[in-house]
Amino acid sequence: MDADLESFLNILGEAERAGGRVLHELMGLCDSLDLSELLRKVSHDEGYFAGELAGHVRRLGGTPSSKTGDFVEKVRAVADLRGKLDLLNRGQRWVMRKIDERVGSIADERLAAFLRVMAEAHETNIGAVDKMMASTPPQ
Ligand SMILES: [Fe+2]
Repeated sequence: MDADLESFLNILGEAERAGGRVLHELMGLCDSLDLSELLRKVSHDEGYFAGELAGHVRRLGGTPSSKTGDFVEKVRAVADLRGKLDLLNRGQRWVMRKIDERVGSIADERLAAFLRVMAEAHETNIGAVDKMMASTPPQ
């Protein structure tokens, strides 16, 4: 497959794997059950996208990366939950932006459709976490 596309998809996959791990860690820091359940749902989405991205790379003849992005360490370095969630959402916006920049030039229609769904889901999840943070007392 095209090396540039392979690397793009693998970078997204590494970011999703990192996001899934971050969210799993943050669930353990929540006092709010509602927030914890939301983070579990978003974590599952991240894991789903990581798996699907690997599947697309394989289908197109490439080699999926099994690495996890360095985002996990960046979030661990932030002291408070709110700051961690802000950083998480910044990372999620980065993923959305990367997809938006690229999706128009992707010839494989299944991959393009998947990426559009992935970007939409990110927008939804970013909004849900922002909304929950606004209605949850700071920790
Ligand atoms: Fe993500």
